[in-house]
Formats: sequence, C-alpha cells, structure tokens
Amino acid sequence: MEVVILSGKEEAGVVAADAIEALFRAKPQAVLGLATGSSPLPIYNELARRHDEEGLSFSQAQGFALDEYVGLPAGHPESYREVLRREFTEKVDIDPARVHAPNGAAEDVVAACAAYEAAIKAAGGVDLQILGIGTDGHIGFNEPISSLASRTRIKTLTEQTRQDNARFFDSIDEVPHHVVTQGLGTIMEARHVVLLATGAQKAAAVQALIEGPVAAVCPASVLQLHPHVTVLIDEASAAELKLADYYRHTWANKPHWQGL
Ligand code: F6R
Repeated sequence: MEVVILSGKEEAGVVAADAIEALFRAKPQAVLGLATGSSPLPIYNELARRHDEEGLSFSQAQGFALDEYVGLPAGHPESYREVLRREFTEKVDIDPARVHAPNGAAEDVVAACAAYEAAIKAAGGVDLQILGIGTDGHIGFNEPISSLASRTRIKTLTEQTRQDNARFFDSIDEVPHHVVTQGLGTIMEARHVVLLATGAQKAAAVQALIEGPVAAVCPASVLQLHPHVTVLIDEASAAELKLADYYRHTWANKPHWQGL
C-alpha cells in the first residue's frame, strides 16, 4: 500500500488523474471502476479538464459504478447512475452505453447482482478502481462486518452512513436504507485501487484502513491484502496516522520512473 499525504483534494485529484491518464495512454480500452459521493469529484473535474484542453480520450473506455441506491425512481438526481452521468461521463467522450451501474430497481435483485458480476468479468475486469471511504470504514457500500470475500449484493446502510449522505437529499427520511454494492471480493479483483479521503471526519477511518488490523469491522482494511493500492489523503485525514512522517519521506524520495 502506498500512502501519499497531499496539500488537499485538488492535488489528490491531479495525482489520481495522472495515474488514470497514464493508464489510458497505454491502454485506451481500459476499464474504470467509478465511485460516487464527494471524494472522487476532483478526479472527475481534472479528467474533464484534460479531455477538453489536452485531448485525453475515453472513447474506448468502459466504466462500472461501485454501487446504487435501492428504491429511488429511475432518473432520480441522487441515483448514482445520474450522479455519474452529471459529474463525469457527460463531460468526457465515454460512450454512455459502456457505463454500467448495478440495477437498484431490479425485481430479481439476486439475478441482477450476478449479471453485474458477469458483466465486469466479460469486460476483462476493472483496471483502475476509484474509491472513497465512509466515516465508518466502508468502501463501496460494504458496511462494517461485510464479508471480506463478498460479491455484488444488497446491503443495509448504517444510520451513520444515512446521516452522512443526508446532505445530498432534502431530508434524512429520503435517504434509502438499502443499496446494491460491489462486494469486497469484487473490489479486490481490480488491478489498481486508488482511494481518496480528505477532511478530519475521515481521520479515524483512514487510520484503521492503513494501520489497523485487517478486520471486517473496518471493511476498507481488506485493501491491506491487495498488491497495488494507492491512498491519496490530505493532512486533516492523515491526523491520526502513526507513521505519517515515513509516508511523507517515502513520497518525497520516490524514484520518478516508478509512477503510481
Ligand atoms: C460511493 C461509495 C462510498 C463513498 C463513501 C464516501 O460510490 O461507494 O463508499 O465513497 O461513502 O463518500 P464521500 O466521498 O461523499 O465522503
């Protein structure tokens, strides 16, 4: 795991965009794993800028969303399919038909989840997975005590996550209780995982992710078992890290040829 402490979310967005640009220059048909929420917005903004100003193209790309609310009507502005369209895909040249999201409205949820897993596999797997982290340590919507081997399935949100996400809705009563999310086992199959976290409210989760035991009570800690994870954080979210100076030293002295 590589931990990079940066000046803020804009710089984190630029560093993540560098890795994504390098991937697409080498492999134009790469598959992106797409998170929603606030954390990835600086990445999407920077990728949109590079698309407009520098010709970075996603015309052969595919994208797979991490998760989706259950129970929101199709086209609801806070459904993750809509959020991804608004915040990223309509700002670049990716083919909308090649951007996939779990079906939170399926009558047969189990079959829809299995079909989503099959679609990721048929695309050749995710090359680079963008992640945020919840204040309770979730990635995707794999809440505490999710199986570390889990696959795409329905989950119940914790009240903490519903409260955290109430800012996107008119009231907490509108935040769904259920979601469909890629599992931890699904996320672990991505070839490169890039996780962004900023702000003091993420400090405890970031510490548990990086320096805590691998334990389902902090689902993100499973990433310690992944061979290629990059964690991009700011000073506020790094506040509880015991080895922060070591991470700063490592980044400052990183060989230029290495990339992320
Ligand atoms: C969203 C997702 C979640 C968020 C997490 C942090 O697709 O999978 O895990 O990344 O809840 O949300 P923000 O970034 O809004 O703090």
